[in-house]
Amino acid sequence: MLTNSFLMSLIRSGISISMGILLLVITSYLLYKVIKKTKEMRQRKRFFKRNGGLLLKQQEEADSSLVGKTILFTSSELEKATNNFNENRILGRGGQGTVYKGMLVDGRIVAIKKSKVVDESQLEQFINEVVILSQVNHRNVVKLLGCCLETDVPLLVSEFIPNGTLYDRLHIEIDELPISLNMRLQIATEVAGALAYLHYATSIPIYHRDIKTTNILLDDKFRAKVSDFGTSRFVAMDQTHLTTLVKGTFGYLDPEYFQSSQFTEKSDVYSFGVVLVELLTGERPISLTRFGENRSLATHFMLAMEDRRVMSIFDATVIKEGTRNELLEVANLAMRCLNLTGKYRPTMKEVATELETIRMSHIPDINQSTSGPTMHAEDLPVSLYGESSSIFLSFNSNISQ
Ligand SMILES: Nc1ncnc2c1ncn2[C@@H]1O[C@H](COP(=O)(O)OP(=O)(O)OP(=O)(O)O)[C@@H](O)[C@H]1O
Ligand SMILES: *[C@@H]1O[C@H](CO)[C@@H](O)[C@H](O)[C@H]1NC(C)=O
Ligand SMILES: *[C@@H]1O[C@H](CO)[C@@H](O)[C@H](O)[C@H]1NC(C)=O
Ligand SMILES: *[C@@H]1O[C@H](CO)[C@@H](O)[C@H](O)[C@H]1NC(C)=O
Ligand SMILES: *[C@@H]1O[C@H](CO)[C@@H](O)[C@H](O)[C@H]1NC(C)=O
Repeated sequence: MLTNSFLMSLIRSGISISMGILLLVITSYLLYKVIKKTKEMRQRKRFFKRNGGLLLKQQEEADSSLVGKTILFTSSELEKATNNFNENRILGRGGQGTVYKGMLVDGRIVAIKKSKVVDESQLEQFINEVVILSQVNHRNVVKLLGCCLETDVPLLVSEFIPNGTLYDRLHIEIDELPISLNMRLQIATEVAGALAYLHYATSIPIYHRDIKTTNILLDDKFRAKVSDFGTSRFVAMDQTHLTTLVKGTFGYLDPEYFQSSQFTEKSDVYSFGVVLVELLTGERPISLTRFGENRSLATHFMLAMEDRRVMSIFDATVIKEGTRNELLEVANLAMRCLNLTGKYRPTMKEVATELETIRMSHIPDINQSTSGPTMHAEDLPVSLYGESSSIFLSFNSNISQ
C-alpha cells in the first residue's frame, strides 16, 4: 500500500519533471527562433542601411513622384525566385559579379545581378543612378525593374532577355546563319539610339562606361537591348587593380580615358566605334590570330583605313550584301568614332542620326536567295519594322496615306 502510493507520487513527479523539461525545451526553442529572426531582421536592416537604402528613402521623400517607382525587392523574394541562388540558375559571370536567372511570384522572368561590393564612397551616386535607370523606358535598353538592398551586396533586378549576347551571335555561334548586313545596321542604329538617349534625354546624362558586344543582348525578335548601364564604376576595385582608376574592357577602352582617367561622353563613342568595326568585320576586339599592333581590332581597322584597303578586312556577308559606297560610309563613321582625340569624335546623337540615314538608304540585297541564306529582318514579324525607329514610323504612315 505504502510502496504503491510512493510509486505513484514518484511517477507523478517524474511526469511533472519531464513536462517541465519539455516546456523548457519548447520555450528555449521558441526563444532561439525569435532571437534568430530578430538577428536576421537586424542584419537585413544593417545591410539595407549600408547599401544606401536610407538615401533611397530620402530621395523618395524629397520627390513624391518617385514613391513606388523604384521597386525594392525583399531578399526572401529573390531567394525564392532563384531557388536560393542555385548554381544552375547562373546565366554568366562578368567582371562585376554573377547574373542569375529567376522567376518572380507573378511569373515574370528576370535576370538578377549580384554585384561585387559597391564602393561606399560612391553609394549616393549609385542610388541616384538606380533611381533614374529604373524610370528609363527605352525599347533598346534592358529595363531595370528594381533592386534589393537587404543583402550583403546590392542586387539589381532587370528584365530577362532571351536570345543571348551579340558577342556570342557574332563570334561563338558560327554554325548559325550569319547576321545580314541589314540586321547589323539595325542593331548598330538601335544601340546608338539607346546611348544617345541616355546621354541627352534623361534628367542627368548617364554614360554607359562599358560598351561592348557582351553587353548588347538580343531579344526573341532580334532587337538589341543594351545592358549594364552606368553601374560598372560603382564596383569597388579589386586589390589587384589598385594601380589603375580606369574601368572598362580591354579592346574597347578609349585610349584618352586610359591616359587621363577622365571619363567623358566621347569615351562611350570610342567603345561604340569598336562595336561598329566588330559588326563590319565579324572579328573579335582582341584577335586570337593576329599579332603585334594588329591584335587590337581598332588599330587593325585604322591601319587598313589609312592604306585604303579596308574592304579587304570586312566580313564576307557584309561585302556580299552591301554596296562599296555604303560600307565605306559606315567605315568612315567608325573611323571618326575611333579618333584618338575625344573632341574630334562625333556625339552619340550625330552617330545615331548618320546610321539611321545609312540604314534607311540600304536596300537589302534582292538577290539573297541566289547568294545563299542569311538571316534578314524581313523574315521577322512586321512589328519589328514599325517599331525599330521613329523615322521609319513616319515613313510608313506616309506610304499608307
Ligand atoms: N538581362 C539579362 N538577360 C539575359 N541574360 C543576361 C542579362 N544580363 C546579363 N545576362 C547574361 O549574363 C552574362 C554576364 O553578364 P555581366 O554583365 O555580369 O557580364 P559581362 O557583360 O560579360 O561583363 P561585365 O561585368 O564586365 O560587364 C552576360 O554575358 C549575359 O549572357
Ligand atoms: C531565340 O532563341 C530561341 C531559343 O533559344 C530560338 O528558338 C529562336 O529561334 C531564337 N530567335 C532568334 C530570332 O534567334
Ligand atoms: C598589320 O597588318 C598589315 C596588313 O596586313 C601589315 O602590313 C602589317 O605588317 C601588320 N603589322 C604587324 C605588326 O604585324
Ligand atoms: C582626328 O580628327 C581630326 C579632325 O577631324 C583629324 O585631323 C585627324 O586626322 C583625326 N585623327 C585620326 C587618327 O583619325
Ligand atoms: C541580281 O543578280 C543579277 C544577276 O546575277 C544582277 O544582274 C543584278 O544586278 C543583281 N541585283 C542586285 C541588286 O544585286
